[in-house]
Amino acid sequence: MAQRETWATRTGFILAAVGSAVGLGNIWRFPFATADGGGAAFLVMYLLFIALIGFPAMLAEFVVGRKSKRNPVGALQEYGGDAWRYVGGIFVFIGVVLLSYYSVIAGWFIRYFLEGLRGSYADHLTAYNGEAAAMFGDLTVGLDAFVLHTLFMAATVGIVALGVRQGIELAVKVMVPALIVLLVGLAVWAFTLDGAGGGYSYYLSPEFGTIADNWTTLLPAAAGQAFFTLSLGMGVMITYASYLSEDRNLATDGLTIIGFDTGIAFLAGLVVFPIFFSAGLEPGEGGPSTIFIGMTEAFADITGGQLLGLVFFGTVVVAALSSAISLLEVVTAYAIDEKGMERWKAAGGMGLLIYVIGIPVTYDLIFLDLYDGFIDAVLLVFGALMVMILVGWIAPKVAVNELSKGIGDLGSFDLAWIWAIRVPIIIVLVISLYLG
Ligand code: PHE
Ligand code: NA
Repeated sequence: MAQRETWATRTGFILAAVGSAVGLGNIWRFPFATADGGGAAFLVMYLLFIALIGFPAMLAEFVVGRKSKRNPVGALQEYGGDAWRYVGGIFVFIGVVLLSYYSVIAGWFIRYFLEGLRGSYADHLTAYNGEAAAMFGDLTVGLDAFVLHTLFMAATVGIVALGVRQGIELAVKVMVPALIVLLVGLAVWAFTLDGAGGGYSYYLSPEFGTIADNWTTLLPAAAGQAFFTLSLGMGVMITYASYLSEDRNLATDGLTIIGFDTGIAFLAGLVVFPIFFSAGLEPGEGGPSTIFIGMTEAFADITGGQLLGLVFFGTVVVAALSSAISLLEVVTAYAIDEKGMERWKAAGGMGLLIYVIGIPVTYDLIFLDLYDGFIDAVLLVFGALMVMILVGWIAPKVAVNELSKGIGDLGSFDLAWIWAIRVPIIIVLVISLYLG
């Protein structure tokens, strides 16, 4: 079998991980989660989750991956013993299901991008009697959605089939910088719009009352969003760290990745809300359709809306593609390492399976709720907790030893890290005993 691939450059790994982290979660989900959760108050809670749980959990995945140099199934088995293969199997399963609908949603963004190429959003809306919701219903279900899902999966498979260096690393070196430039440009543009101010205050004024009233639903929502946005709980970071050839300082790498993901999520809010408010729209409930419906109405209304919209939807497609690659890479690495498949066959075969599973979503959005609800609320949190149990409770010494490579003496950081991984598990146990 061919030699296992590695990243060509220092930045290749970081860009790939940033590309994975920054995705639909940042742009399609985060702004509305924040608005629903009481603005800045939710933001504070989310940041705490990222720092206190997300960061330690990311290091845990890095350590497992770099130590074992395997896909999640092989990595967890090597790290924790044979029974842990099944946890790895769940990770691969999550990757399959998550990518299947992620790709369909990415296809919707391609569709809206194409609308911008074809003419003004105002004209398109007129064709639907001004009803952006009707337009959404029409564009996201049926043949168009199916074709664009096909296209997006084909692009994802193409990149992953080319390999870690020639495919993923090359792609993210272009995509991630482009993404950042585009989003900063959009945020600046949004800032210049009349009425943008209302957007900032809606987004950023803290309503601590919302948290006090709803903390039982907001806390798990913030935790789920934290794992989702950092691509934790299903083995992306295990897989990407398994391609590290040198012993790097994983703590600074983790901080860099988290810094970019959080910064870009925040930036997305600075794009979305001023645009909404400048068009006189009040963002309502969150949910998958909000960004499409609201943004279309806004782009139909504001001057330069056609170009602005085209750039916005296109940017989201780029973000989604660099995340999709990472999802397919988990599944592909599994097929290569564990089943001895050649890379292009693994990527193609698994891509086809994922593609087929996603097809129902292009016919009825019921499937989206079904898939997404299951993954986001249950499985990612489960996956992240399993890695934390393994690293924090079962083999902490190996983990500390591995983390110290490339850093040197950890001082008291090792204890802080291990306990940061252990405590959430205790909390979850206590809460479930209390509830159950
Ligand atoms: N982090 C990605 C986002 O925010 C989603 C994702 C989750 C990607 C898990 C890979 C693994 O959109
Ligand atoms: Na993200």
